[in-house]
Amino acid sequence: MEDKSNKKHKVLFICLGNICRSPAAEGMFKQYVLDREGSLANWEIDSAGIGRWHVGQLPDHRMRTHARRRGLELNHHCRQVSTSDFYDFDYIIGMDAQNIADLRRLAPTVETEKKILMMGDFVTNPHYDYVPDPYYEGAEGFELVLDLLGEACEKLYKFIVGHK
Ligand code: 4NP
Repeated sequence: MEDKSNKKHKVLFICLGNICRSPAAEGMFKQYVLDREGSLANWEIDSAGIGRWHVGQLPDHRMRTHARRRGLELNHHCRQVSTSDFYDFDYIIGMDAQNIADLRRLAPTVETEKKILMMGDFVTNPHYDYVPDPYYEGAEGFELVLDLLGEACEKLYKFIVGHK
């Protein structure tokens, strides 16, 4: 499916800390779009956190290591989600049910609340309808996150490009 519209698709990935899951989702989805379209010119793809504990930091070193093994450099600097994000982005995508509950609470209007989506809805693994927090997990937790995010990219891309 080729995207022929000239309107930019603006996608914001959200997790709790913005140092593990959402910067990985941002990096993987950017790479997916780049592989598919050869450019990011039609897209604005970013990530942010519900919390502000890690603002300014690069992603967690474990996530960076696991991503690098898949050829992905994660250079996002952590930031907290803001009210203006709800107006600036078209799709605001949380990783788990708590993210979605927090985003609903933060959404300034009914219209902006409709922009909130659950990444788990795009995951094809039948055992997961969310992307689990790897922060207190071992290596397998980070691998699982990257597997789930990787498999969600195609479905998410098709959803957004087909959504006019
Ligand atoms: P993330 O993981 O939400 O995937 O970035 C976490 C990172 C940090 C914390 C929690 C989750 N924390 O509590 O500091």
